Amino acid sequence: VTAAAVPGALQVLDPRRPSPLRVERVLHETRDTFTLELLPAAPWPFEPGQFNMVYVPGYGEVPISISGDPNEPQKLIHTIRAVGPVTRALERIVAGDWLLLRGPFGTGWPRAEDSETVVVVAGGIGLAPLRPLIYAALALRRQLFILYGARSPADILFGEQLQAWSAQAGVHCVVSVDQGDATWHGNTGVVTKHIAHVGFDPAHAVASVCGPEVMMRYAARELARAGLPETRIFVSLERNMKCAVGHCGHCQLGPHLLCRTGPVVDYTHAAKLMTIREL
Ligand SMILES: Cc1cc2nc3c(=O)[nH]c(=O)nc-3n(C[C@H](O)[C@H](O)[C@H](O)COP(=O)(O)OP(=O)(O)OC[C@H]3O[C@@H](n4cnc5c(N)ncnc54)[C@H](O)[C@@H]3O)c2cc1C
Ligand code: FES
Repeated sequence: VTAAAVPGALQVLDPRRPSPLRVERVLHETRDTFTLELLPAAPWPFEPGQFNMVYVPGYGEVPISISGDPNEPQKLIHTIRAVGPVTRALERIVAGDWLLLRGPFGTGWPRAEDSETVVVVAGGIGLAPLRPLIYAALALRRQLFILYGARSPADILFGEQLQAWSAQAGVHCVVSVDQGDATWHGNTGVVTKHIAHVGFDPAHAVASVCGPEVMMRYAARELARAGLPETRIFVSLERNMKCAVGHCGHCQLGPHLLCRTGPVVDYTHAAKLMTIREL
């Protein structure tokens, strides 16, 4: 299994020229996270795991993964956590505003088409880049294991969707929070400790992991312990990006320019890369 090829790269006529897109809807997900629904003039096909460069005039451009359904390329959806100047400017966007986007860029998650069992391990905002893979796996009725960890019950992203997905046949969903509260009756502690017990067949599974790097390392270790070879464990490596087309070197990590050979990388390569500090 390899990371999905990049058909999107062929569809970008000039990947340096952004397209103006109108924001159709803004959804407030958690206290610091929101979702923007944009309407491109023409369908915007993408592979689950790919990202766009989102430009807020006057503030700057940031890489943001696509969090929508790959079977609905007429809508472009981004889920964003406000952490700094550009993402806070995005947080102030309202329906009817315009943004400039270019993409899609980068490698995608291994395709749901190519695996009998799809295992998704996500931490925090890391569920957003994995949601397109979940949509694809559900559309194909693959056996699907979702393990999701959040800091607190209030930080759980896509909470209603997680509940709806877990009610579907063939879907196994484990949600855990670092710290519960009076309303929380679910799991507490790191979600990675559940990997060994959820019961996927390692002979037929492919795992995709996204979250803080320390969480991805633990997840990879537990997945390997559960019998998955590193060639079937994929992580998303996020580094600063500027050009997104392999020219500027901002995203260099070891021998990789992650805007082209990442962000999705299999763990045989990622394990070494995750020990290298950003340039
Ligand atoms: C391929 C890729 C896909 C991404 N997808 C998403 C997404 O779907 N949703 C989303 O909310 N964010 C995503 N990010 C992260 C997003 O690009 C950054 O949060 C954003 O660039 C921050 O810009 P800023 O100007 O708001 O804050 P900055 O001033 O640039 O950063 C504010 C703080 O956040 C930290 N930070 C910046 N970038 C990252 C990062 N990549 N990972 C961890 N910490 C970071 C900085 O060190 C600093 O402490 C993605 C990044 C990459 C490389
Ligand atoms: S962002 Fe410029 S080379 Fe990758």
